[in-house]
Amino acid sequence: MTLHEIDLQSDLQTKARDHLWMHFARQSVMTEGPGVPIIVKGEGHHIWDAAGKRYIDGLAGLFVVNAGHGRRRIAQAAAKQAEELAFFPLWSYAHPAAIELADRIAHLAPGDLNHVFFSTGGGEAVETAFKLAKQYWKTQGKPTKHKVISRAIAYHGTTQGALAITGLPVMKHMFEPVTPGGFRVPNTNYYRAAESGFGGGTPEEFGLWAADRIEQMIQFEGPETVAAVFLEPVQNAGGCFPAPAGYFQRVREICDKYDVLLVSDEVICAFGRLGYYFGAEAYGYQPDMITFAKAVTSGYSPLGGTIVSDRVYEPFAHGDASFPHGYTFGGHPVSSAVAMENLDGSRRRGVRDVPYELPRLRLTAREAPRLPIVGDVRGDGTSWASNSSRTRSPRRPSTTTSPSGCCAASSRRRCTTPACTAVPTTAATP
Ligand SMILES: Cc1ncc(COP(=O)(O)O)c(C=O)c1O
Repeated sequence: MTLHEIDLQSDLQTKARDHLWMHFARQSVMTEGPGVPIIVKGEGHHIWDAAGKRYIDGLAGLFVVNAGHGRRRIAQAAAKQAEELAFFPLWSYAHPAAIELADRIAHLAPGDLNHVFFSTGGGEAVETAFKLAKQYWKTQGKPTKHKVISRAIAYHGTTQGALAITGLPVMKHMFEPVTPGGFRVPNTNYYRAAESGFGGGTPEEFGLWAADRIEQMIQFEGPETVAAVFLEPVQNAGGCFPAPAGYFQRVREICDKYDVLLVSDEVICAFGRLGYYFGAEAYGYQPDMITFAKAVTSGYSPLGGTIVSDRVYEPFAHGDASFPHGYTFGGHPVSSAVAMENLDGSRRRGVRDVPYELPRLRLTAREAPRLPIVGDVRGDGTSWASNSSRTRSPRRPSTTTSPSGCCAASSRRRCTTPACTAVPTTAATP
């Protein structure tokens, strides 16, 4: 490192220490520890810190940079749009960038998911789906349907409404009371199935059992009070829980039976992570809404959104009806243009070709249980996690993992899974 680089780094550390409040992190690493890792550059799947050290960005930022860092065409698309129309809101107006993107996403989305409500990130997209579900049922003459069901340890965002859907008590108790009406059911962690109350059986039996817990919760709370179920195709928080075959199909049946909307939270899973544009496609189910963010722009500009079915949209299409909800920067022109270029890149590189590569990754990941400390390996697409354990028996999982059961929780490094409750004992390292 040159003297100039050393000066620059220490100047940045000082400014960060004095003025930057990090997210989900201990500020004390800056005062009592060696400082915060400062990332200055990215190229492809590599990033560099201020000291010039290179890392593999294995988590793609935070499940965001699917296209890789340093894609010039995306940066140029942003600059072009900023020159032409840097900003205009979608409040009663529209602009070509958002219109074209909505059209494109609607065509990519499965089934009748034809209407896109933009936000600026994933939590806002979840918040939108929550509010929309409530208002939808009011338009249907069912005003008491306002509760939402989600899975234990699932992460769905940090705003008060999204937090009511997030299934991590440890992330909520300092903010209680959050929006009322959030109820939790078991997730699909087969490794810890016994702890959820499953009496034993195959993964498929476990999946049906877990889906039936949703029905049980709807019955318990009263179907006339339940608006929606929020599920990720592969639950990230806790460490990548794919659903066993048949799970989502059973959930869909249950939702239809009790007039409950099914929201597929694809903030992580959409746009290629599972080898499909949407995780619902990968698992063969049709949700009433899909929430997305992150990889829609590969992080070159912030954007999120909620894709809504014809059925849920219909009451809003006529007369005086409107959805009194929005975000100044939702569907931002620059972000929309960036998303279009990013999706062009996905098409060129072939999102749908990714599945052909994935079996190799799956095979490699499945080799891991041969290591004596690995208790479980699970995942799908490009999202995989493992539990370390003293015993390899799935019936006797380790008791040394974090409260969130997160894959990296036992390490001294920061776990970048957003919902992970583990905190590093040393400075965070990428
Ligand atoms: C499944 C899921 N939903 C919602 C969110 C919240 O997204 P954001 O951080 O963009 O608000 C996240 C964030 O990681 C997520 O993983």
